[in-house]
Amino acid sequence: MAALGGKAAAFSLVCVPECDSTNTRLMAEPPPDDGRVHVFAADVQTAGRGRRGRVWQSWPGASLTFSALWRFAPGAPVPAGLSLVAGLAVARALEGLGVEGVQLKWPNDVLIHGCKLAGILVELMPGRGRTPAAVVGIGINLRLPADAAIDYPTGVTDLAACLPSPPGASALLARVLDELQALFEIYAAAGFPALRGAWQQRNAFADLPVRILGEAESLSGRCAGVDEDGALLLETDTGMRRVLSGEVSLRVVS
Ligand code: BTN
Repeated sequence: MAALGGKAAAFSLVCVPECDSTNTRLMAEPPPDDGRVHVFAADVQTAGRGRRGRVWQSWPGASLTFSALWRFAPGAPVPAGLSLVAGLAVARALEGLGVEGVQLKWPNDVLIHGCKLAGILVELMPGRGRTPAAVVGIGINLRLPADAAIDYPTGVTDLAACLPSPPGASALLARVLDELQALFEIYAAAGFPALRGAWQQRNAFADLPVRILGEAESLSGRCAGVDEDGALLLETDTGMRRVLSGEVSLRVVS
């Protein structure tokens, strides 16, 4: 973890050529609570998971795929908004590399000029009597195969298309971990309200007409940003509605 410089001691890193899913690995075999952030990365995942039961497809060298186990202060609830903060950290890491047009699609897809570059899957660890913890799983497309068929309503992109000389996976991982640590520190001290403005600046759908596709109902309105818990605010014909990040998906209405 040389790329993390002086912060390297705060992390432990395991990199494997292949596993089922880096989230699954950390959830199934949580490393000891030794004060470090435990990171598990794989070049290829054979059962990579996305939100809403989707699959994160994998090819060698195509994406940076890793998960980090974050533990919070004993007794602290793992508050809402965590996955939005993870998206913001990825956005800031990309901006630091000079990527232009980085936007966030609620709850936590990272888009470049509308196309998906990265996805995030946050899973809370069952923590009865234990330190609250979350597994933050991140996939960032580095160089997708030309024939990759990934189903996403507005298309997908990769870092090779965004930068003339994109960084390697380990340099990118170090940048994202650095941003995650900085933002999670702010979040632990002051909650999502301290980061809400930064998230909203990058909101891909700010003020646009959108439709939320839920399990049972769909809801249309103007995207009015996010509230202090990270819930999506939707201005509908019948007033402002809050949408929690459960099993819903967001579409812009053309
Ligand atoms: C999504 O776009 O729906 C979320 C995708 C999250 C993919 C990452 S890749 C690393 C980690 N391991 C997984 O199985 N999923 C996450």
